[in-house]
Amino acid sequence: MSSKKAGRLDRSEGWRDSVRECLAAWYDEHGRDLPWRGEGDPYRVLLSEMMLVQTTVAAVIPYFARFLERFPDVQSLASAPEADVLKSWEGLGYYRRARQLHAAAKVIVERHAGTIPADVDTVRALPGVGRYMAGAILSFAFDRPEPIVEANTQRVLARLLGWTEDVRSSRSRERLWEAAGRLVPETGAGRFNQSLMDLGATVCTPKAPACLICPLAALCEARRQGIQDRLPVVAPKPAPLAVAEASILVERSGELLVVRREESGLWAGFWEFPTLHLEGANPAGRPAVAGPMDLADGVMQLTGVHVQVGPELRTLTYGVTKHRVLVRVHPARAVSGADRPRPGSGMTDARWVAPADLTALTLGSPARKLTRWILENPEKLGW
Ligand code: ADE
Repeated sequence: MSSKKAGRLDRSEGWRDSVRECLAAWYDEHGRDLPWRGEGDPYRVLLSEMMLVQTTVAAVIPYFARFLERFPDVQSLASAPEADVLKSWEGLGYYRRARQLHAAAKVIVERHAGTIPADVDTVRALPGVGRYMAGAILSFAFDRPEPIVEANTQRVLARLLGWTEDVRSSRSRERLWEAAGRLVPETGAGRFNQSLMDLGATVCTPKAPACLICPLAALCEARRQGIQDRLPVVAPKPAPLAVAEASILVERSGELLVVRREESGLWAGFWEFPTLHLEGANPAGRPAVAGPMDLADGVMQLTGVHVQVGPELRTLTYGVTKHRVLVRVHPARAVSGADRPRPGSGMTDARWVAPADLTALTLGSPARKLTRWILENPEKLGW
């Protein structure tokens, strides 16, 4: 489809001025008052943007405040042990972001004298900073005229321009970035980008956009054609890959056996219960076992502890990257080798921990869910 047919990106400067003016007036009155806005402190912008990836504003607000208390500036973050950073991030998910933020803080301290850089190339060279994040940092913190395109702005732009191609296609992405680049004003870029984002979050919502109160309704191509409910066009994602795993709760004298994963790959450096791969994809590279009869062999491989495994206690499911994981949870008793667990198969540590002390470890989300369940149902472990 030609770009003319897909949508009208060839708007006039007069039209763009009208969009900027209408949005500015709307933002003065309706912009959201979020804790990372206001002073334009680059560290707060970097931190909030890293936290907001794949997460909602409501989920981030309490984490943002706690994290800032613990690591008030880029120096305190850069000098902190990684385990402390992950602990403050725990529960927010997407831990790679926490590691990237920590790595970015180190680069900022070591190479940029502790000052977050204000030019595109240097910002983009920071760990975890892509095109969107660079635009956000430069426009929100330094008011540089850099565009942003994320889910909210993408939706607003697709409707405003009447863009009818799948917004996930690389061509669409490129065209929407170009359009955002033409729209962002020379001054007031930060407020402009935030206003687009807020309009998407509160008015130009995915379902039932509130065109009657939208400041851009008269300028909107989708509205003109009456197709706002059908835009943006988003091709369905492929179905997640199914994974089946078994997590073994090995108990001895009221303590549970936990292992720490090596520093690379999925859940790098996290503590978890000994976990084995049963079926399907194996994103965490776990030792595979053929079925319940072999679980004890798997625990031996991971921990050096000889165990007797009991019948399945429960299952839990969670999503990670493009996988949907089903975890079969079994209890087990140590038979021998329990005094000195030794980590094997991609583990760097193995030890006994009282259930109440598990929460002090940096746990991945499935292990954290299981820990909560164990603390609430201690009787379930006796078999
Ligand atoms: N989502 C990503 N960045 C955001 C921000 N700065 N404000 C609100 N929502 C966001």
